[in-house]
Amino acid sequence: LGDKLLSIKGFVFPESNKNSLTPEYMEQLKTFQIRDDDVYVVTFPKSGTVWTQRIITLLYEKELNESGEQTSYDLMPWLEFPNEGEDHSNRRSPRLFCSHLFENLVPEGLQERGKIIYVSRNPKDIMVSYFHFTRFMKILANSETYNELMEKFFSGRMIGGCWFDHIKGWYTNKDKYNILFLRYEEMIRDLRGAVVKICEFLGKNVSDDFINSVVKKSSFNYMKSDPKANYKSLPDDIVDHEQGAFLRKGTVGDWKNSLTVAQNEHFDRVYQERIKDLQLDFVWD
Ligand code: PPS
Repeated sequence: LGDKLLSIKGFVFPESNKNSLTPEYMEQLKTFQIRDDDVYVVTFPKSGTVWTQRIITLLYEKELNESGEQTSYDLMPWLEFPNEGEDHSNRRSPRLFCSHLFENLVPEGLQERGKIIYVSRNPKDIMVSYFHFTRFMKILANSETYNELMEKFFSGRMIGGCWFDHIKGWYTNKDKYNILFLRYEEMIRDLRGAVVKICEFLGKNVSDDFINSVVKKSSFNYMKSDPKANYKSLPDDIVDHEQGAFLRKGTVGDWKNSLTVAQNEHFDRVYQERIKDLQLDFVWD
């Protein structure tokens, strides 16, 4: 694909992951055995993955994080990018996963078992977040301008692939899954409300005090300085920690500071055209 990216079945990922995500592994995932208590966070990149991953790992802290030292990533790894020697089949329950996959690429067993939390975000904010992301991820090529990035966003030449296909696939097939849809913007507006929704969906009966502690530990500022949540331990050959961070700004509407009026109008026109068949029951803030 260029830009240090590879694609399998429309799913786009960094070349540096080529040893973990192969066409054979992608194929095997279709028949990967799902357990009843599996929990998946599914997102298009830059939509709030790491945030939701943190909330859920905090909710399962007692079951999984005996030492208290494990990071979000250790407790809730990526389905499609297994670490060397890691076999998800051997993990003990409850297993937590993150995934950026399209609906037609996830294990078919998810239609029978397991729970999915799908987090979406205003695509303009995704684009801005990605713009900055490419600057500190050494394994990605920079987008020099927003015009350039916008064309990549529309044609799906970025991690994840095509945002329109991602959201359409998951929304139009939602009845096949046990799935909770959340929006980044509603998490920003009412984090406690979002945590309570997640608890109810996962059948977690926890005290108010526990919920309060999860809300506190998943707030932007807390996470930013929490080594278990902020991905600062990613090695220097992947990330230039001087140039940015996974937790960058954490706001709604940053696109207004980044896109010109003309770029915004262009985005709106393409968006309307590409999304018109999808019956979303909300708009992003
Ligand atoms: S990735 O690379 O796909 O895993 O990125 P992802 O985690 O999906 O998205 C990164 C953006 O999420 C923001 N973020 C948060 N916002 C608010 N509160 C909390 N706790 C939080 N944690 C992560 C992060 O800052 C990125 O957004 P931007 O707009 O770049 O700040």
